[in-house]
Amino acid sequence: MKGIILAAGHGTRLAPLTDITSKQLLPVYDRPMVHYSMQTLIDAGIKEILLIVGPEKCGDYLNYFGSGAKFGVRITYEVQDKPTGLPDAFIIGRRFVGDDDVTLILGDNIFEDKLTKAVESFKGGAKVFAKEVPDPERFGVVKFDDNMKAIKIEEKPKVHLSDYALVGFYIYDNRVLDIAKNLQPSSRGEKEIVDLHNWYLEKGELEVELIKGEWIDAGTFDSLLKANNFIASQRKKS
Ligand code: TTP
Repeated sequence: MKGIILAAGHGTRLAPLTDITSKQLLPVYDRPMVHYSMQTLIDAGIKEILLIVGPEKCGDYLNYFGSGAKFGVRITYEVQDKPTGLPDAFIIGRRFVGDDDVTLILGDNIFEDKLTKAVESFKGGAKVFAKEVPDPERFGVVKFDDNMKAIKIEEKPKVHLSDYALVGFYIYDNRVLDIAKNLQPSSRGEKEIVDLHNWYLEKGELEVELIKGEWIDAGTFDSLLKANNFIASQRKKS
């Protein structure tokens, strides 16, 4: 299993902070935001990690993580010149992924859960994760049937679909490389991750697991503050 962290993007919702640095380098309590995504992959037992960054501050990521040796992993770096969508991770990362399965994590997502079992038990298809939230319309949303089997996934639905948001941690088999390559951009000009999920859903090969612990997408001022407070309280407990 290979791991990819996506840490490029626009970061418009955190401007003007993101006018001077990259979103995923902003502090969350005592570390840069992206460190938490890295730690989640490391805790999941992934040893080969590709970090995809934007061109502006890419050297800062390299300064911070280096080769990955101090974390016991090997880190490869790639630059995404323009934020053309999450599935581009699999176009930029094609050579890195090779013939393996791959876990993608977003560089602004913070997880309390250890996802080791989810990665270890992965057998093929796609496995994504959901959490009940008060503001699902900000995210990809999944609708379940009475047996908690996923039946529909929609990106930022305008009409309420369910309270279950898809979180920024996804596991795919190697077919994702070709599926991402063949996706067409949506009306907003980006390739959409929901299209990858629908490909697997239509084939009956998409598994959706609920996560139990805290999950924070730290991409807005309020959620960044929440992330800081959450990590501060975790540190004080340990
Ligand atoms: P988003 O938070 O959806 O978008 P954004 O980071 O561009 O921010 P904003 O909406 O405030 O303008 O992106 C989710 C994560 O994916 C985030 O860590 C950035 C990353 N990302 C990329 O690395 N490349 C991309 O092309 C896109 C769209 C996002």
